[in-house]
Amino acid sequence: MNYNPAENRYEKMKYNRCGKSGLKLPAISLGMWHNWGGIDNFENARAMLRTAFDLGITHFDLANNYGPPYGSAEENFGRMFKKDFSKLRDEVIISSKAGWDMWPGPYGDFGSRKYLIASLDQSLKRMGLEYVDIFYHHRPDPETPLEETMGALEQIVRSGKAIYVGVSQYSADLTYKASQILKEKGIKLLIHQPRYNMFDRWIEDGLTETLEHEGIGCIAFSPLAQGILTNRYLDSIPNDSRIGKNTMYLKKEHLTDDKLNKARKLNEIAKQRNQSLAQLAITWVLNQKVVTSALIGASSSAQIIDIVKSLDQSKLSEEEINAINSIIR
Ligand SMILES: NC(=O)c1ccc[n+]([C@@H]2O[C@H](COP(=O)([O-])OP(=O)(O)OC[C@H]3O[C@@H](n4cnc5c(N)ncnc54)[C@H](OP(=O)(O)O)[C@@H]3O)[C@@H](O)[C@H]2O)c1
Repeated sequence: MNYNPAENRYEKMKYNRCGKSGLKLPAISLGMWHNWGGIDNFENARAMLRTAFDLGITHFDLANNYGPPYGSAEENFGRMFKKDFSKLRDEVIISSKAGWDMWPGPYGDFGSRKYLIASLDQSLKRMGLEYVDIFYHHRPDPETPLEETMGALEQIVRSGKAIYVGVSQYSADLTYKASQILKEKGIKLLIHQPRYNMFDRWIEDGLTETLEHEGIGCIAFSPLAQGILTNRYLDSIPNDSRIGKNTMYLKKEHLTDDKLNKARKLNEIAKQRNQSLAQLAITWVLNQKVVTSALIGASSSAQIIDIVKSLDQSKLSEEEINAINSIIR
């Protein structure tokens, strides 16, 4: 069936300025790390993409190695995009990344100019795009000089294959250095993509200040702690959940008693607000300093609808903040 996007799609979503830049991102963005690969249900993923856009989610986040198998999330996204979104290219922000292992040998990992440029060319082919809006270095490379990695990002912008560039998982210090190197080249470091949620607050230990100081935006990945900060595991481990499906990055042992107890207590606060736990987790992230967008994952359209409803109650009272802090500290 042809896709006709909802006419009221821009009415509910909030769009936040990404650091000191001209770009606005939706308060909620959708990532394709899980549930978009070759092993997943194509029609379910396609329905999620349509649902998200209908709700004003204009930003879709990919990486070269999302799948499994590696590359298949970009391939699937490309197929969906061609079918449903080919006339909507200028209404969306698409990102991809390179930095983790992608192909065998010394040129398919980390942060060399050779890897980043070849990888983005591959990503563009898989997605059937001429350019991405944001291209990230996916993780720091302890061996490649930072000047080379940032030089690759500069080359990518100048070649027109990405409009903006960002980094992910960089420490405060490295982010500052990366920002300075790019500035000298006349390029802005637009955005940082760190993990950030009620259970993982590492960015508050210096990175937040660096981002504010440099005017860099922040898109928080795994704001639901991969599903632990939702109702998914409060009673049991469902077979169709990330843990139940025995995926690589979230295992049963990550669901500790401590986390589960905290999630259950946070769920009580969510209930008092008439929110789901997932909605509370998103509300919390969006209330933190420097956060431009919460980058969620989803396994169904219903989950995306649930998350977007969190924008209906975007404020936390002082009492609620104190109650949350007493649980997560
Ligand atoms: N830069 C990096 O290094 C990096 C690393 C990781 C992720 N990311 C990016 O961040 C994106 C999001 O990561 P993530 O998937 O870990 O994010 P997340 O939002 O923390 O977790 C997503 C999972 O939470 C569950 N969920 C979502 N909405 C729900 C709802 N309303 N009710 C109940 N459960 C709900 C689903 O679990 P079930 O599948 O169990 O239903 C979903 O798969 C990725 O797709 C990727 O784009 C980047």
